[in-house]
Amino acid sequence: MRFYATTPIYYVNDLPHIGHIYSTVVGDALTRFHRLIGDPTRFLTGTDEHGQKIEKAAAEQNLRPIELADRVVARYGELWKMYDIANDDFIRTTEPRHRQGVTALISKIEAAGDFYTARHEGWYCSGCEIFYTEKELDSEKRCPIHGTVCTWESEENVFFRLSKYAEPLLRHIEAHPGFIRPETRRAEVVSFIRGGLNDLSVSRTKLQWGIPFPNHPGHVVYVWLDALANYITALGFGAEDDRLYREFWVDPESRRVHLIGKDILRFHAVYWPAFLLSAGLPLPTTVWAHGWWLRDGKKISKSVGGIVRPDELAATFGPDAVRYFLLREMAFGQDASFSDEAFLVRYNADLANDLGNTVSRVAALCRQSFGSAPTVPCGVNEIHTAYRPLRKEWREAMEELAFHRALEAVWKLLSQINGYVVSREPWKIRKEEGASDRLQRILYGAAEGVRLAAVLLSPFLPATSRKIFETLGLPPRDPDEHDLRWGGLVLGAPLPESPALFPRADIAAYLKGEQSPMEDKPTPPPAASVPAPAATPEAPRVETTQAVSPATSDARIGIEEFQKVRLVTAKVLTAERVPKSNKLMKLQVDLGTEQRQIVAGIAARYEPEALVGRNVVIVANLKPAKLMGVESNGMVLAATVGEAGEPSLLEVASDVPPGSRVK
Ligand code: MSP
Repeated sequence: MRFYATTPIYYVNDLPHIGHIYSTVVGDALTRFHRLIGDPTRFLTGTDEHGQKIEKAAAEQNLRPIELADRVVARYGELWKMYDIANDDFIRTTEPRHRQGVTALISKIEAAGDFYTARHEGWYCSGCEIFYTEKELDSEKRCPIHGTVCTWESEENVFFRLSKYAEPLLRHIEAHPGFIRPETRRAEVVSFIRGGLNDLSVSRTKLQWGIPFPNHPGHVVYVWLDALANYITALGFGAEDDRLYREFWVDPESRRVHLIGKDILRFHAVYWPAFLLSAGLPLPTTVWAHGWWLRDGKKISKSVGGIVRPDELAATFGPDAVRYFLLREMAFGQDASFSDEAFLVRYNADLANDLGNTVSRVAALCRQSFGSAPTVPCGVNEIHTAYRPLRKEWREAMEELAFHRALEAVWKLLSQINGYVVSREPWKIRKEEGASDRLQRILYGAAEGVRLAAVLLSPFLPATSRKIFETLGLPPRDPDEHDLRWGGLVLGAPLPESPALFPRADIAAYLKGEQSPMEDKPTPPPAASVPAPAATPEAPRVETTQAVSPATSDARIGIEEFQKVRLVTAKVLTAERVPKSNKLMKLQVDLGTEQRQIVAGIAARYEPEALVGRNVVIVANLKPAKLMGVESNGMVLAATVGEAGEPSLLEVASDVPPGSRVK
């Protein structure tokens, strides 16, 4: 099956932020997956360069729009390279091939009799480049997406007969349950269409920065009609050589998936298919909408602020760490919060610890035992048995775009490998038997498991996957479907000494002072990072810092492990905000037998006065840590609520004496 995936094309009025990288990383992971399983695949991304928004941003910077576009496009190019984005094409709407395709699309719509000219008046948001109806705005006429006040505009426009397509669209949606995903978005679109579709104005006269509207001098093409067409103009629609268009768009066997943010659902699930229906062209197979990355409860965007710069993050932690966080933390379709803490915890627990340590431990065991990869293969063993259902789980999750679940399956495999190594104690066998066949088979099983984990990881963390291949003595390359089978290790391959995949980060040091890598101008963190503890093949892995243990691991713990955590009740005596921090609150708490100072990340939700006198639950036996320079001796427990992860304190009845053990 041919597979074609697209990202939205990005506006060039600003530099990319984490929301843009998300859509692109999702497209990259999805198309890498399809290439891996052997599908002929194409991945398109690009930039949306026309329209009022860009014209205005360029004027503000004293540039011509194309100059601004060129600058921003160069940054996108650098960023996609940095993030290992394997797009097959990059379309710019200012390219001649695009203009030619848009003109061809317009003539088809024209031929269908779906354009007419009329005066257009309404409330316009230049952020969205869209007219809103009175009932969609609040009393001050503010845009529901940007919160900025819309302006009243009136001009003579070309209109598209959108109203004519309400019924055909509803029928298409009904007949194709996979057309709009997830289900909530499909329901939203259906109710929007049922609410009635007004004809759409698709030309502008007040604006020059756009594609001239054929046969309407003085009009340029409405930026959304222009932009949406990129998905087919990039394939050669309207060009002499339209082979790719026929293969990836017209062929009924092709799967055409638009990945978009939920903010642009209406354009992709209503306007775009209506244009295509009118022009008599095939529709996309699926419009798949993801949620928003939020910071402090608000969508991360240029206009709203709270930008997280993906280049700075990648420079500090490596692009794969960011790719991992984005794909693991957000359930595709839902909103998720971007916080420094969550990022760092996942970095240490999942990447430095689970992944990095497993790889280095298995490689070190092979090196120490044989001076190379194992020289004797092993057929069916328990890692092989565990792998097969996990590969199925991974694949099914990928088909559903449930990237977080696919990653969970890989982490289950890592946990199996760890458990296997710990239970077989190869270091003891080596002492007793030397490089015996038994030892060879055990370490073959573990190393082959690591290789397969690298293959399953390759759509998500391509560079790390290649590095793991190298660590196992294999050529560093993107794997293909044959690599998904058991038995790909090269027997006796020399194993190079490799640096830690993800050197451990010192969370407290990052969160202290201005060390946050998410600040506008981050301080490079060498002093704050401590190298990963050398993999110690001799002993089971032990957590060496306070990093939270991986939420992804399915390994259950025994009661004795839980009992190591001393949970007690405490009464809050005083509370004050930590200066220069939005999140941190300094508390003095009474434990019955002693008083303690604890710093808790609850200041965004609670006022100091509301905390005094509360009976809370704390972890009493945590090693002390400094948060923004303030010492903390314990941790207050709170539930994290909603997509934004707002803290809600755990409380116990006021008559429970402080210091009571919670178990
Ligand atoms: N140019 C239009 C799209 C035209 S597609 C034919 C546009 N551009 S944009 O640059 O403003 O945003 C594009 C996309 O970036 C969003 O749809 C979404 O996919 C992604 N994101 C931007 N901010 C985001 C978050 N805060 N969170 C997740 N993704 C978001 O709209």
